[in-house]
Amino acid sequence: MAKGFYISKTVGVVGIVVGAAAVATIIALSVVYSQEKAKNNEVKPTEGTTTTTTTTTAAPTTAPSNEPWDSYRLPDTLLPDTYDVTLWPRLKPDNRGIYIFTGNSSVVFRCVKETDLILIHSNKLNLTAAPTLTALGSTPAPTIKTHWMQVTTQYLVIQLNDKLKVGESYELFTKFLGELADDLGGFYRSVYTENGQEKMLATTQMQPTDARKAFPCFDEPAMKAYFNITLLHDPETTALSNGRDIETVDVTVDGTTLKKTTFEQTRKMSTYLLAFIVSEFESINAIADDIRVFARKDAIAAGQGEYALNITGPMLKFFEEYYNSSYPLPKSDQIALPDFNAGAMENWGLITYRETALLYDPAVSSNGNKERIATIISHELAHMWFGNLVTIRWWNDLWLNEGFASYVEYLGADSAEPTWNIKDLIVLADVHRVFAIDALASSHPLSSKEEDVVRPEQISEVFDAISYSKGASVLRMLSDFLTEPVFVRGLSSYLNHFQFSNTVYTDLWDHLQIAVDQTSTDLPMSISAIMDRWVLQMGFPVVTINTATGHLSQEHFLLDPESNVTTPSQFNYEWIVPIRWMKNTGEQPLYWLQAKQAFRVTGNDWIVANLNVLGYYRVNYDMDNWERLLSTLQTSHESIPLLNRVQLIDDAFNLARAKIIPTTLALRTTQYLSTEREYMPWKSALDNLDYYYLMFDRSEVYGYLQAYIRQQVEPLFDHFKKLTGNWTDVPEGHYDQYNQVNAIRMACSSGLEECTTLVSGWFQQWIDNPSVNPIQPNLRATVYCTAIAAGGAKEWDFAWGMFQNATIAIEADKLRAALTCTTIPWLLNRYLEFTLDPNLIRRQDATNTIISIASNVVGQPLAWDFIRANWAYIFTQYGGGSFSFSNLINGITKRFSTEFELKQLEQFRDDNSEVGFGSGTLAIQQSIERTNANMKWLAQNKAAVMEWLINTNQIKPLG
Ligand SMILES: *[C@@H]1O[C@H](CO)[C@@H](O)[C@H](O)[C@H]1NC(C)=O
Ligand SMILES: *[C@@H]1O[C@H](CO)[C@@H](O)[C@H](O)[C@H]1NC(C)=O
Ligand SMILES: *[C@@H]1O[C@H](CO)[C@@H](O)[C@H](O)[C@H]1NC(C)=O
Ligand SMILES: *[C@@H]1O[C@H](CO)[C@@H](O)[C@H](O)[C@H]1NC(C)=O
Ligand SMILES: [Zn+2]
Repeated sequence: MAKGFYISKTVGVVGIVVGAAAVATIIALSVVYSQEKAKNNEVKPTEGTTTTTTTTTAAPTTAPSNEPWDSYRLPDTLLPDTYDVTLWPRLKPDNRGIYIFTGNSSVVFRCVKETDLILIHSNKLNLTAAPTLTALGSTPAPTIKTHWMQVTTQYLVIQLNDKLKVGESYELFTKFLGELADDLGGFYRSVYTENGQEKMLATTQMQPTDARKAFPCFDEPAMKAYFNITLLHDPETTALSNGRDIETVDVTVDGTTLKKTTFEQTRKMSTYLLAFIVSEFESINAIADDIRVFARKDAIAAGQGEYALNITGPMLKFFEEYYNSSYPLPKSDQIALPDFNAGAMENWGLITYRETALLYDPAVSSNGNKERIATIISHELAHMWFGNLVTIRWWNDLWLNEGFASYVEYLGADSAEPTWNIKDLIVLADVHRVFAIDALASSHPLSSKEEDVVRPEQISEVFDAISYSKGASVLRMLSDFLTEPVFVRGLSSYLNHFQFSNTVYTDLWDHLQIAVDQTSTDLPMSISAIMDRWVLQMGFPVVTINTATGHLSQEHFLLDPESNVTTPSQFNYEWIVPIRWMKNTGEQPLYWLQAKQAFRVTGNDWIVANLNVLGYYRVNYDMDNWERLLSTLQTSHESIPLLNRVQLIDDAFNLARAKIIPTTLALRTTQYLSTEREYMPWKSALDNLDYYYLMFDRSEVYGYLQAYIRQQVEPLFDHFKKLTGNWTDVPEGHYDQYNQVNAIRMACSSGLEECTTLVSGWFQQWIDNPSVNPIQPNLRATVYCTAIAAGGAKEWDFAWGMFQNATIAIEADKLRAALTCTTIPWLLNRYLEFTLDPNLIRRQDATNTIISIASNVVGQPLAWDFIRANWAYIFTQYGGGSFSFSNLINGITKRFSTEFELKQLEQFRDDNSEVGFGSGTLAIQQSIERTNANMKWLAQNKAAVMEWLINTNQIKPLG
């Protein structure tokens, strides 16, 4: 899947905009905790999900807990070979008002170990006939003794009167019925409006464990098989699946005229990559019809699929060359769905996307929207080989699959948009982002043990930032120190060797090692010896360079130095670190940190290590080198490479958080920004200052901080004013376009009147003439948010109306996020209520909207009360196919920094221990740890920050 579901790119945009006047409101709104506890007990009824799994015959109630059907993992007795599946989704409710689908499936499997038991996954399906078993060999099949649904472990259990024979094949036939719910998991329905009419479609999201909700199957990634798919559907609809359709005929079933579409047999593949879609969508295509983009008719007619189609062909070519392996399938379809939980899903041959991740319109989409489309398409196409052709054996190795795609997505996107320089962005979007999480004592290693990832919610939990972003970061480091030619040579050999089968991550190391051995690549030890330390132990090192003595050392970097690491590491938290570095005189040869060695400089010379942030570690220096670097930033910042300016800021702020260097040293890295025009260093500073805003926006430091930011950003604001001819042109460069947004956002939020007047004027023009939006697409997210924060109910209601009428999801998303920027409590509370009404806010957007409200200083306590009061309801309603609980919990609690908030958090954990937190379980622990760290940080730094802001910069607070 794309990482879209755990990263909410819009959240960062809002949040800072709210003014200091809000503090009083918050105090007034603080709610006595006992009241919430009472509210917590009112669990709202569960809507829509009337299905409970049925048992065809009663399960043996006295079963001891170690029967084979109590294990979440399939036994090693049977292997599937082919499936023949027919499904018929009903796009109209039945007489109970429920949407259902019916189907039948026969699976041919081979017995590889003697057994008289068939366990096959099945979840929330009702059998409509008794299952039948046929032998394909000469000996007849044993008869069925009994069968039932084992609800907790999600099996259809079939006990036989006799044993199956090793080496023989059998065919199991089932007929079943399931609900086509709107729960975004398995086979589900999605709804949209077209010409004032409500339209329904049926689609799927199987990963990780929901194929079993569509038909009984051996639902583990290593159980690869061939699938013959047939879909029955209404005459006005089209059916899509992984393979090409080979035949569509008219049939009459139970008196209903239908179409029956048969698909060519799939390649050998995993169940989680299947997809079935029935809709009235239309498509555009390229290269005959091998590459197609599907979407709502209106969206296709408006040309919104064109950009995706334009870049898909070239990207597939790029990956064919990169992998040195031709595209494994005869067609590539991509489809934009109105309701979709993740960002996108790499179903083999039929990739599904959120509309915002696929549909583009130059008149409304920003360059950021365009970039997201390019990177997500690239990510999913990369999976067509890495993940789909060669698949991890079990979910504990998910990091390899997702980390790899998250790394090469930049390469594929760069091939389609070479002018963007997008490869550099991985430093901000992945390396720095995941450093923040991986520096906690509650982090976890990339690789998990197979037996620790068993239950569906444990499997959901591995889809986190560590798997995606740390995975991407260490693979990028590996590719760099092997050099790209060696890396791709090993990669291609791995793909070729394991095609249509499954692997563990060490298989990749083996093939890379072969490539290393065939060339003269110089490594200090084997790939697995180097990489084990990055993969099997959590966290990362901070490398300290003393330029006076030449001494080098490393240490496990912990954001909170007082936190206790309870996870032992076989490597004692030491790493084999590849160090690329430069002196002021130029780049130096790659150095491997194992022992200590001389990195001495004299005079005014300076050193920067971890060049271009290719390594997964932070760097600290002796104070003299820091001073030389700071003065170089002030006098000639361009002599330090761009990505290392980004790094110096991020390292300094984080080293200060960890009490390794003074906080004021970190703040001093931002002083040169008044002369910096590049996007990435600015973004790095703003990302870090976000923390200062979170910690201080309810305190007296806020005014001083605002004044400092305004002073630093004003030259940037003026620069873009000039560059764009007084805000009329769009800057040419991709990053300049981003930095223009930074300039406006920060100038407005820090109270530069010229900015707020400008922005509110644009918004007012739009209110005056709603049919013409005068705001440039790149600036819309920021302008909407700023204007709504400055405005009242009139602005809010206008934006809400435009949100409901938006014809492209990208525009709707910006408005949805901007609506969280208001500072008026009743508007925010009403908006929170809206998030639980799927007719107002789609389910897929609910958690993201709540998090966004919590980023707003006024919204934060409201959102916290809201989720505490509604936790049981949110958990049951959004628990099934949703991955975002950890986001929700982390997002809402990130500002927590008082004893009182810590107590509330612990109380919340204890009160809901029975309901549970699903994929957010780890996030609760992380939030408690973070709150503790925030409290300590504030106690130690508040006075120093205030003093620095006042004295060093002669800042007076904004009144
Ligand atoms: C499955 O069977 C149960 C029990 O009979 C019933 O409550 C449920 O509605 C059925 N599911 C569907 C989708 O009809
Ligand atoms: C599945 O498709 C293959 C290839 O088209 C065909 O040979 C086979 O007979 C089909 N299997 C079934 C059970 O229909
Ligand atoms: C798609 O490519 C065509 C042909 O090169 C071009 O004219 C068109 O502007 C492109 N569309 C988009 C949205 O990039
Ligand atoms: C870590 O352990 C020490 C000694 O046992 C204890 O005093 C300290 O409070 C612990 N730190 C945290 C953050 O739990
Ligand atoms: Zn992915």
